[in-house]
Parts: sequence; structure tokens; C-alpha cells
Amino acid sequence: YTRAEVAQHRTPKERVWVTYGTDVFDVTEFVELHPGGPDKILLAAGGALEPFWALYAVHGQPHVLELLRDYKVGELSPEEAAAPPGDSADPFSGDPPRHPALRVNSLKPFNAEPPPELLTQSFLTPNELFFTRNHLPVPAVEPGSYRLRVEGPGGRALSLSLSELRRRFPKHEVTATLQCAGNRRSEMSRVRPVKGLAWDIGAISTARWGGARLRDVLLAAGVRDDSGDGEWHVCFEGLDADASGTPYGASIPLKRALSAEAEVLLAYEMNGRELPRDHGFPVRVVVPGVVGARSVKWLRSVAVSPSESPSHWQQNDYKGFCPSVDWDSVDFGAAPAIQELPVQSAITEPRPGAAVPAGELTVKGYAWSGGGREVVRLRAPVPAGARLELVCKAVDRSYNVQPDTVGPIWNLRGVLSNAWHRVPVTVTK
Ligand code: MTE
Repeated sequence: YTRAEVAQHRTPKERVWVTYGTDVFDVTEFVELHPGGPDKILLAAGGALEPFWALYAVHGQPHVLELLRDYKVGELSPEEAAAPPGDSADPFSGDPPRHPALRVNSLKPFNAEPPPELLTQSFLTPNELFFTRNHLPVPAVEPGSYRLRVEGPGGRALSLSLSELRRRFPKHEVTATLQCAGNRRSEMSRVRPVKGLAWDIGAISTARWGGARLRDVLLAAGVRDDSGDGEWHVCFEGLDADASGTPYGASIPLKRALSAEAEVLLAYEMNGRELPRDHGFPVRVVVPGVVGARSVKWLRSVAVSPSESPSHWQQNDYKGFCPSVDWDSVDFGAAPAIQELPVQSAITEPRPGAAVPAGELTVKGYAWSGGGREVVRLRAPVPAGARLELVCKAVDRSYNVQPDTVGPIWNLRGVLSNAWHRVPVTVTK
């Protein structure tokens, strides 16, 4: 085929064709099955997959190529094969340098967690080791020209420079833990495969955040203090965007945004320093007690709205389902977006399979619960024995407790994995 022939197949009606290398595929039947949604795969319709896969590097895996092979319908003619179209420049080439100790789950986009032992070395996670969850390339933001748009009710809007955000609103500080919904997903995928990055126990970190209270900024934009009583939401958009220009976005209920107690921040400082680029420089949202996905980085806009964010990540991701729901039966519209996270704990030391000395054993780990519910119990008994399993289980202030095994909470997306953490060790003589 020529590229021009391939380019005629851009809709399900004309059939959807794509190329990869010199091969031509008819992916019409796959469009509705695409995990990232039909809209995203249709962006590549009639052309090459490479520029999109460079952006969504999750595709560069053997099983994806294998799946594609089933749809092959032919090859590009030799004279066409030579020139790959479009800009193949790496969209991630502007990403910042990273600490070599981070365990990388995906390089492009960058997703990495600190080694467990380093996570519990200090209560606050050093900025360089704080887990990173990026869906897209890190945007390069010029702080001098940065503007944050804040849309209040009735079309009223503010445009704030970085120095206005710092000067006009009192600085508030909060120590808060962020946890990704996919933390400990790798344990869930051992029960049955799930879709998503294989996070171990480190997609969680704690920092002291400094910035303006979202509440203060919303009030300055004309939002009334009592307007959180209804079902309204505050929608956030980031400066990171996909190939179609769609930004990362998420929302939280307006009630939480206006609550002084909930301490939602538009943060410009992390552990006393300006935000690192990977963590949202120059301004990010921090929503304590809530799934990390709502703490939007590289914040470009805040808007009060009667409905939740229309973003893919609010509507069609970061939701929980029961174990019997599969990719054929899943209905994302039927489940609420994850906000407050359930009680969680994990052992960081010793590591699974370790040989530990007999006698007294120090076990290290973390325990945390969403929504500001503190942990009220965490014990790790260490009986003598040749082989033992260390188990940790936390209970929060509402007496929510972690489930004992992961099977009954398995879900296709591998989110909310919070079963007792089990670490087998052998005791040396
Ligand atoms: N904000 C933007 N703009 N883009 C993103 O990809 N990822 C979200 C959230 N905010 C994301 C974002 C997710 S899923 C998580 S868990 C947290 O950022 C992670 O924050 P961190 O990388 O600072 O740890």
C-alpha cells in the first residue's frame, strides 16, 4: 500500500488503518477495545503509530506488538517505507534528570518509586526520592510568564502570576502523604493480571507542602463560603497535554475545597524548597487524604463547576470495581471516582525472602489512612522460628481495617490494593 491509501482509512465506516514500521494494520475491530479509549486510538487513524507510541510508551511491550500482529493486512510499498512521516522527535527529551536510586516502572512517561528501605529512613520523603507518577511529558514552565486561571461562578475569573499567588494569599503549610491508587498493584496482579504499572509498595510518599489555601483563592474569585453545600466540584487542569492537546485533569468536591479543615493547597513549596519539575513546578494542587490523582501538577486552571472534571482520568480511570467485572463488562459511568483512600500499611524492612538474625527483630514500615483518619494500631509480633511470615495490618480511627488477602478486592485496574502486607523471612540461628 501507499501511505496515501492508508490515509483514506480514518473512521470505523471507512475502516481504521494504521502503520507500524512497514506493516499496515486494519484495527477497526480493536477501536472499541482500546484501553485508552476509542478517541485516543483514532488520533493515529490513517497514519503511523510511532509518534503516538513515543508519547504513550506503555505500548512498547511485546504483548502489544503481538496483539497488533493479528490485525495485519499488508505492507507499505518499498519506496514508501523509507520515509516515516511526522515529527519523531522524542516528546520526553525535555524531562528533568532523576535520582539514580529511584526504581523506574516506566521511563516515558516517567514513573518511579523509592526503594522501600529509603522510604522509611525519614518521615518526610526527600524530594529527590518522592515517588513520581507522570502520565505525559513534564512541561517546561517559565515561572516569569506563568499564569494560573481561576474561574469562579458566573463567569468571574482571576489570572494569577506566581508572585501574586505568593503575595496575595497567606502561606499555609501542611504535612501530607500522597499515595497513588495503583500502589501495591504488583501484589494484585499476582492473583490475576491487571492493567497498569507494576507498582511495588513505594507509590506513596510524604512531604511538607507550602502554598496558598485553595479555599482562600476560591473566595477571592467570588465563590461563596456556603456554596459547598450543593453537589458542585472544583476542576483542575495541568499544563501537560497529550498529542491531541488534551490536558491532564481531575476534580474534587467543592465542599472539600472550601473546608478549612481539609487544608487543600495550591502548593509552590515541597519540603521547604520550590517544587521540583517532576512534582509540578511551579504550582500543584495537594489534596491531603485523597488519592494522588486529584493532586494535579503543573496547574494551569481551576474552575468551579456543577459537574466533575470531564477528564479521562476522572471519568474512565481511578475507579474501583468488584472482582467479577472484566474489560467486557466494565461500566466506568457506574462507579464513583476514587477520592478518600482506604487504610493502608506495608513493611519496608526486612524485604521478602530476607534472612534475619534470631532474637529481637526491628520491623519497619508505614501505615496511613485516607480522609485524615489517623492509624490507631500497628503491631508486628516477632515469634521465634525458622521460617516466619511478617504481617502488618493497620486499623484507622473509624475502625476501618485492611482486608487479609488481596483476592476478594481484586479489580481489573489494580487500584486500591490494601490487603495485609506479608513478608516471608527465614530466621538464622
Ligand atoms: N498532574 C498532572 N498534571 N499530570 C499527571 O500525570 N499524575 C497524578 C497526580 N497529578 C499527574 C498529576 C497522579 S496519578 C498522582 S499519583 C500524583 O500526581 C503523583 O504525584 P507525584 O508525581 O508528585 O508523586
